[in-house]
Amino acid sequence: MSRLKLKLKQISKVFDDGNAVIHDVDLDIADGEFMVFVGPSGCGKSTMMRMIAGLEDITAGELWIDDALSNHVPPAKRGVAMVFQSYALYPHMTVRENMAFSLKLAGKSKAEVDAAVRRAALTLQIEHLLDRKPKALSGGQRQRVAIGRAIVRKPGVFLFDEPLSNLDAALRVQMRIELARLHKELGSTMIYVTHDQVEAMTMGDRIAVFNAGRIEQVGTPLQLYNQPANRFVAGFLGSPKMNFLPGRLSHNTPDGVQVDMAGGYSLKLPFHGQNGDSVTLGVRAEHLRFADSGLPATVQLVEHLGDTQIAYALVEGASEHIAVKLAGHEAEPEAGSASFLQLDPAYCHLFDGQERALPRLQATPAAREALPA
Ligand SMILES: Nc1ncnc2c1ncn2[C@@H]1O[C@H](COP(=O)(O)OP(=O)(O)OP(=O)(O)O)[C@@H](O)[C@H]1O
Ligand SMILES: [Mg+2]
Repeated sequence: MSRLKLKLKQISKVFDDGNAVIHDVDLDIADGEFMVFVGPSGCGKSTMMRMIAGLEDITAGELWIDDALSNHVPPAKRGVAMVFQSYALYPHMTVRENMAFSLKLAGKSKAEVDAAVRRAALTLQIEHLLDRKPKALSGGQRQRVAIGRAIVRKPGVFLFDEPLSNLDAALRVQMRIELARLHKELGSTMIYVTHDQVEAMTMGDRIAVFNAGRIEQVGTPLQLYNQPANRFVAGFLGSPKMNFLPGRLSHNTPDGVQVDMAGGYSLKLPFHGQNGDSVTLGVRAEHLRFADSGLPATVQLVEHLGDTQIAYALVEGASEHIAVKLAGHEAEPEAGSASFLQLDPAYCHLFDGQERALPRLQATPAAREALPA
């Protein structure tokens, strides 16, 4: 099983109609790495995948697959297999023939082809569908056949464009685990596009967050979750999404800075910043709690999810509802009631006027106290 590394250098894409959708993207993907692409609809994820697969011309920049400049290498010669967002199966062929097609084309023996197809069908739980035509399959079943067609080829790089989007929740979890296992087993390089927060956080070695044709940040899931480089990344990963509140900096000291917020509420945070600067404070729902004092908030709605509850509250100055996560067994805050929120300073983020994350101080006072004398 070969595995390939990829290098994207200053890649851009302008479509024939003048639509510029990818701008100077640089990215290194190690051989055997599982790389996840996330980003809002229309930000260019599929276009980037299609350029790597060779299905779309690269307008500018260089695509290196292993040590070969591959901009003009034909798709079939790239060692890359793509599972499309709209899985394009051959309609006149059975599932078995769809999956066997590329292997037959490559001149493999009947025994080899049969074994590979059977193995893939077993993994994907579609053995009972092998003699059907695609039109007699559900969307989720077709999606699994499309994955099977890529698996049997044992490519050096798999490109998965939202391969699980049509599956029901239970099958999705099962397939997520199967794909992770497959990655371990084959060791091949994978690029995986998803809109699913759990898939993004759990499947990838690293995540690249796309926004309007650019990469905002690349890192391990926890790096991106815990140290987002900017407000876009902070707001994109996590469900419910991070809450944002306006504030102003004051009392800058070596230990940190004070953030003055609505209703006379202030909070000392371990960041450096300029007195008087307007900032956006980011804090996730799980790092907020209702209390008898703090940031004034009015509860609007409470959603019960069984194990947890999400309360949505209005806070002066915030442009959206503030989500607060509570355990399922906690007393439900009353809709319409006035309350206060406490923010956990260890988990607050600050963003400047350009929406970049302010640097956190290396050692917070709490961390220093914890050190042995
Ligand atoms: N052939 C084309 N000509 C012109 N513009 C195109 C073409 N194909 C795609 N686009 C545009 O390129 C942009 C990126 O599309 P792309 O399909 O890569 O987005 P995506 O990130 O995969 O979105 P989604 O999450 O909805 O699948 C979109 O604005 C789209 O309208
Ligand atoms: Mg897409």
